Amino acid sequence: MRGFKLTLLACFVAALLFSASAQNPQREREGAKKPDTSFSPVVPKEPFAVVMARMKAAKAEIMRRQMQLLNERYDLSKRVSNEVKMTRGKPIPVGPTAKLAAGATWERLAEMSPDEIREKGLFPKGYLPLPHPNHPEGGMTFPDIMIDELEKMGEGRRLERFDLDFDLPDHFLPEFPPAIFLTTRPDLGDVSKGKVVTLDNLYELFDGILNPKQLEGFRLLVTQFPQQQFNVTEDRRTEKPSRGVTCFDCHVNGHTNGTVHLVGDIRPQENRRRIETPSLRGVTIQRLFGSQRALKTVEDFTEFEQRAAYFDGDPVIAMKKGVNILDRGTQVHDMSELQEILDFPPAPKLNLLGRLDPAKATESERRGEALFFGKANCSACHTPPYYTDGLMHDLKVDRFYKPQTINGMLATRQGPIKTFPLRGIKESPPYLHDGRLLTLEDTVEFFNLVLGVKLTAQEKGDLVAFLRAL
Ligand code: HEC
Ligand code: HEC
Repeated sequence: MRGFKLTLLACFVAALLFSASAQNPQREREGAKKPDTSFSPVVPKEPFAVVMARMKAAKAEIMRRQMQLLNERYDLSKRVSNEVKMTRGKPIPVGPTAKLAAGATWERLAEMSPDEIREKGLFPKGYLPLPHPNHPEGGMTFPDIMIDELEKMGEGRRLERFDLDFDLPDHFLPEFPPAIFLTTRPDLGDVSKGKVVTLDNLYELFDGILNPKQLEGFRLLVTQFPQQQFNVTEDRRTEKPSRGVTCFDCHVNGHTNGTVHLVGDIRPQENRRRIETPSLRGVTIQRLFGSQRALKTVEDFTEFEQRAAYFDGDPVIAMKKGVNILDRGTQVHDMSELQEILDFPPAPKLNLLGRLDPAKATESERRGEALFFGKANCSACHTPPYYTDGLMHDLKVDRFYKPQTINGMLATRQGPIKTFPLRGIKESPPYLHDGRLLTLEDTVEFFNLVLGVKLTAQEKGDLVAFLRAL
């Protein structure tokens, strides 16, 4: 009876709010902007049913606006490679996908100075920072493919939010479920058996392969813990109270499914960046963790993810929603040890030094390698064998555009970002910390402008061929 009354109330409020927002869309947008404080409100002013009804009613317009932005920036149609596949067979997407301003060509852009490109507004829009599907709101946003798979596995639609959807088409995402390679058991190849690892199949898949400590770490990595949008309180974003999310809901099988979030360590809201889940493959050879915060160990990041990143870096709200404090000496170490044995996928054309074996490489790949270490200057930051220098660099992409607000996100100076490794790079589109570059061709066009190296069309093709071999 009480539930029925609540539903009635919700419908009534929804109708009311929907008509109000339809009459005054401007006010609706302003209302969505968060105030410029560092803190989230602890006690919401409205009941859950009212908030949910309003957000559900606003969802279609929010997603329309985001898809319009994506279509303005990119050609989202499905173009994929016939030859180059990810480990389990998904073809890699082919670009460039970024749209050019009317009359512009890649060649002409490369002839212009950053000042000229900025003043004329010619920087491809797809190379500007990419906003979250609903930037003023933010939070973890999972692709449908993940939500649907968990439902098939009997977990319900537990990763579905009522207020927004994921925005990028599947063909720009990593293959799903992704393969798992272990540094400790390279003899086994892919140990995923084509499944998404969850609590239900963990033991059957890994008993006898992992040691008990790693198994326990893995168990914690696939166990749900409360998070900002996924919890039991009235300011959650799931219809039913949620037990939370698991680490591998995003870093699925230790790789990534492309789930996005807003970075926790920037305020105010409009300055926060969309961040795309990085792969944990090869995390062991890295020295900095997080695109900007650069924590120094996997242990630190593991602890930090659950205590801070899950709650937007706000310990006040974390207490309210049920932060789970991991024990450093056991749980954090177990979880980290499992992550530290996740390997990059095999790269059969590379030798011991991470360089091409000339006997196995094509001519185009060999030319691409020479460019990477020569004219294109990529190796200044991406050093072999894993193609990262373990440092951060400010690419000063903001030389190419004027500060501007895009769907509630302020595109301004970005500062230093860590040099992501390029080993296995063809398996983790989209690219950059926010996923704004949808294909490897886009990364080459982007760096051609950012570095001013003036590559010819053939040289760009060769460089892409080399990246595909890494
Ligand atoms: C939204 C889905 C999501 C969940 C859930 C999640 N992560 Fe992450 N993870 C990310 C994102 C996004 C980043 C990049 C953060 C940044 O750039 O600052 C990241 C970064 C990391 C990194 C650093 C990787 C690197 O290359 O710098 C580690 C390690 C990590 N996560 C481990 C974990 C662990 C352990 C858990 C569970 C406690 C977890 N993650 C839960 C999305 C997620
Ligand atoms: C000055 C240092 C520097 C140079 C030179 C450089 N990069 Fe990078 N690269 C970076 C940084 C920093 C990032 C991460 C940027 C971000 O996420 O916003 C990156 C990211 C990338 C990525 C995406 C990685 C991912 O996981 O999303 C690719 C691909 C890439 N670089 C290719 C190249 C190529 C090809 C060249 C040469 C044409 C090149 N880079 C030159 C520093 C550099």
